[in-house]
Amino acid sequence: MQNFVYANPTKIFFGKDQVNNLGKEIKNFASKILLVYGGKSIKENGVYDKVISQLNNYKIEFHELPGVVANPRISLVEKGVEICRLHDADLVLGVGGGSVIDTAKTIAASVKFNGKPWELFTKSMPINEALPIAAVLTTAATGSESNNCAVITNWERQEKRMISSEVLYPKFSILDPQITYTMLPSQTVFGGIDIIVHILEQYFHNDSFTPIQDGFCETLLKTVINNLPIVLKNGRNYNARANIMWASTLALNGILSTGVLSDWATHAIGQEISAIYDIPHGESLAMVWPSWAMYVYTNNCKRFKQYAVNVWDLSESNKNDSDIALEGIKITKNFFDQLKAEAQINPLQLKVKDEDIELMAKKATENGPIGNFKKLYKEDVMTILRRSF
Ligand code: NZQ
Ligand code: ZN
Repeated sequence: MQNFVYANPTKIFFGKDQVNNLGKEIKNFASKILLVYGGKSIKENGVYDKVISQLNNYKIEFHELPGVVANPRISLVEKGVEICRLHDADLVLGVGGGSVIDTAKTIAASVKFNGKPWELFTKSMPINEALPIAAVLTTAATGSESNNCAVITNWERQEKRMISSEVLYPKFSILDPQITYTMLPSQTVFGGIDIIVHILEQYFHNDSFTPIQDGFCETLLKTVINNLPIVLKNGRNYNARANIMWASTLALNGILSTGVLSDWATHAIGQEISAIYDIPHGESLAMVWPSWAMYVYTNNCKRFKQYAVNVWDLSESNKNDSDIALEGIKITKNFFDQLKAEAQINPLQLKVKDEDIELMAKKATENGPIGNFKKLYKEDVMTILRRSF
């Protein structure tokens, strides 16, 4: 097991109607805020009204920044920074999914930064200061509600990049599983695949004695795998939604990567696909993970066998490690395909040019090889990409 430092400062309010704590909790940090959200979903499902009534009840001055889109844009971050500076906001509240929370985080850091917000993503400098951040989560997917990362797209440059810093942890996040009842089946599926792949990115490493981390990962994987079909049949099943939502936070709040060298190659490659073709994050991961796994599994068949046996209950008898490992990869791909079929997600008809494959592979590896389970260079990434479309 590797050395590690673990600290997660985000306070979580989990469960039915926890939004009732919003005003009181904000008051611990601020009396003037920027409220960031996306399109119409929070107005249609009543979350917007609940948030506004909390802000009014606690006499919190707020200025609104709607319009966050999936694969959120740096141009909207710039607008948010202007509003914060104009009104002297002292907290940024995101009400939405990963795209909204990442936008809120990036605004919070950019307000305290003297350059253009995109420079935070391109110049490797530490981010030491940010306004306090808070979130009311509306999707179960990214884990942004309780981690130190933000992912933003620069559409003009066709680049999707990540920043991370201790100051980007939200001070608190409100997680009411009832809010996820209105997620479309496609969002539920892509969010679910995102959660699964977050866990897999941290599960596939080459350390050999990590029973605590393995057990956490395997339990979370089974929980998501068992509950996704339930919520696709009945989107208002509270317990199933609650288990998926809590799994999604635990999948990327730092606990699973304690003591291990996690991989993250699938995310690095998927991000390049979304930056050019603007497809949902989870969709890019569903394309890449099976091709990545097929490309790397011979590096450590035992690990893939453990995954197949402990997560998918595949039998060990009469088969060698490599065969069981392969079965585990195939069953994962079939599971992703089944979920997509159930959610009536149309198969992607991307016309991918060979020069784009090369460009994506080049960008993914511009700072050196990616992945830790097996180091991947530009040519490796090109092969994985060709097998993903
Ligand atoms: O815009 P509205 O109308 O609100 O609709 C949104 C949006 O269209 C809708 N939605 C959200 N909650 C809903 C809802 N519709 C009905 N009912 C609800 N309760 O869902 C659509 C997608 O929202 P988005 O925020 O984009 O989804 P998600 O939470 O999956 O976030 C994806 C983004 O997070 C990044 C991804 O790259 C992607 O940009 N990630 C962030 C990470 C992090 N900060 O740690 C890690 C992840 O790996 C990921 O990269
Ligand atoms: Zn992800």
